[in-house]
Amino acid sequence: MKAFVTGGAGFIGSHIVDQLVKDGHDVTIYDNFSTGREQFIAHLDVPVVRADVLDLEKLKEAMAGHDIVFHFQANADVRGGIDNTRVDLEQNTIATWNVLDCMRELGIKKIVFSSSATVYGEPASFPTPENYSPLQTSLYGASKLSCEAMIQSYCEYYDMQSWIFRFVSWIGERYTHGVIFDFMKKLENNPKELEILGDGKQKKSYLDVKDGVAGIFHAVTHAKEKVNIFNLGHDDWMNVLDLADIVIKELGLADVSYNILGGERGWKGDSPFVHLDTTKLKDLGWKPQVSIEQGIKNTVAYLQANKDVLSGRDIGK
Ligand SMILES: NC(=O)c1ccc[n+]([C@@H]2O[C@H](COP(=O)([O-])OP(=O)(O)OC[C@H]3O[C@@H](n4cnc5c(N)ncnc54)[C@H](O)[C@@H]3O)[C@@H](O)[C@H]2O)c1
Repeated sequence: MKAFVTGGAGFIGSHIVDQLVKDGHDVTIYDNFSTGREQFIAHLDVPVVRADVLDLEKLKEAMAGHDIVFHFQANADVRGGIDNTRVDLEQNTIATWNVLDCMRELGIKKIVFSSSATVYGEPASFPTPENYSPLQTSLYGASKLSCEAMIQSYCEYYDMQSWIFRFVSWIGERYTHGVIFDFMKKLENNPKELEILGDGKQKKSYLDVKDGVAGIFHAVTHAKEKVNIFNLGHDDWMNVLDLADIVIKELGLADVSYNILGGERGWKGDSPFVHLDTTKLKDLGWKPQVSIEQGIKNTVAYLQANKDVLSGRDIGK
């Protein structure tokens, strides 16, 4: 198989590339390195095209000759859309249209897509199943849902096949953004006080990147519909204050006071409870192996051992 991975230098995309290489496939990485990092792919001997997904001509030229596209490029900052209302439209919706239309022109029939639990907005049903019909509460979620809708339409029109994954928050090796990252940055600046967005009672599910990648490849191997949609998350969840306690303990800090900003949500569009029903994927034989607590500990250890990753990016906006 010749696989084309957009966002292949990113946190999740680089692990996808690792697995593809391990399985003996030819891989091309396409990335503009806006948030991706050379060090995540430095151990690999694969072609890397350093370009933007919004550059349609370059994208088409680079994609030619591949059999499957793993589309893992995006604006992965779930909060950015509040201040910049174009970013999700451009980096997620239009970028995905670019990918799909290049595939159509080149006759490439298979796409694997990184969607998000944010497409469920603030659901009323937990754990939330794939067939839940949501109202949107964020431009990031709305853009991901629009990507899913386009992928489904291309599958219908052009005889393509797709695997769409709605992720909870991923953690683990090469983690570069999210709540653990933000907490560690804040604690580096002030080890005596930690600001908590919302009331800290938000409950979220987290998935270790190794479990997530295993789930993706398991589904791609076993699910054979034209459009295959899967939740990808953990059976458990954890509230933000408990997560903060673990991070502080792992950092060896003591007497840290919490500055709790209050309110049910961390920011507008943040869902106070994220817990997905993963029965569909588990019925195919996958299940997560790493507990959320262990995954958090691993993530803190990774960022402590890779201080340049921690200093390479700002706290999420
Ligand atoms: N990390 C999570 O917890 C999480 C949760 C839900 C969904 N997702 C989705 O998973 C995918 C991967 O996320 P991630 O966490 O690895 O984020 P990331 O920011 O580490 O990866 C995105 C990659 O895409 C590249 N990129 C961004 N814009 C580009 C452009 N215009 N042209 C070319 N390359 C570009 C970046 O350089 C980076 O390597 C994204 O689609 C994201 O929305 C992630």
